[in-house]
Amino acid sequence: MVRHEFGSLKKCVIAVDGPAASGKGTLSRRLADYLSYNYLDTGSLYRAVALRVLREGQDPNASDICEYVAQNLNEKDLDDPKLRDEKTGQAASIISAHPAVRDALLQYQRNFSQLKPGAVLDGRDIGTIVIPEAQAKLFLEASLEIRAHRRLKELQLRGVQSIESDVLQEMKDRDTRDSSRAVAPLRPADDAIIIDTTDLSPDEVFKKALLYVEARMP
Ligand code: CDP
Repeated sequence: MVRHEFGSLKKCVIAVDGPAASGKGTLSRRLADYLSYNYLDTGSLYRAVALRVLREGQDPNASDICEYVAQNLNEKDLDDPKLRDEKTGQAASIISAHPAVRDALLQYQRNFSQLKPGAVLDGRDIGTIVIPEAQAKLFLEASLEIRAHRRLKELQLRGVQSIESDVLQEMKDRDTRDSSRAVAPLRPADDAIIIDTTDLSPDEVFKKALLYVEARMP
C-alpha cells in the first residue's frame, strides 16, 4: 500500500477501541472532523483482506493465503461498498486472528498515526498493540442488544434487510472470537477511559470523549 509521508515529530494520536457497533466509528469521525485530524477505520483493513479472500474463493482460515492478501492490499480495496456486509465482518474476524495478517497490517497503521497534525484510529487493539503510546485512549462499550439494534438500523439504511435475532447472534459470535483470540484480543488498555454508550446519544458520547481528549492534549 501507499506509504504516507510523515514528519519526525511525534503527533497526537487518539486510539478508540471497542466491540462492533459500540459507536467507535461515529465518535472517531467526529473527533477527527472537530480536531482536523486524519481518521483511519482499521476494521476496513481487515474487512478488505477478508473480502478479497472470499472473492478469490479462498478459505479465511488459511493463514498463509490471508497473509499474502494482507501484504498486497491496495488502497482501492478499502473503498468497496461490500466491506460493510455482515458476511465480510464475520470473515474479517476470522482472518484477523492470524498473527501474520496482523503483522502485515501493523506498519501501515503506525505510519498513518504519524500523519500531521494528528490522527484518530479506531479498532480493537489500537491502544494496546498498535499505538500503546497514544496520548488519548478510549474504549467504548454497549449492551449486546443495543449494538445489534444499531447494526440492524445501519443495515436497513443501506437497503439490506436482516433479522434482528440473526444480527444479534452474528455479533455475539464475533465478540467471542475477537475477545478470545490469542493475539491482540479485544480488551481495554489499562490506561483507557471506558465509555458505556448504551444509554448515550452520539452527541453525549462526543462531549464526554472531547472533555477527556482535550485534557490529554499536549
Ligand atoms: O464496524 P465493526 O465494529 O462491526 O467492525 P470493524 O471495526 O469493521 O472490524 C471488523 C473485524 O475486524 C472485527 O470483528 C475484528 O475481528 C477485526 N479487527 C481487528 O481484529 N482489529 C482491528 N484493529 C480492527 C478490526
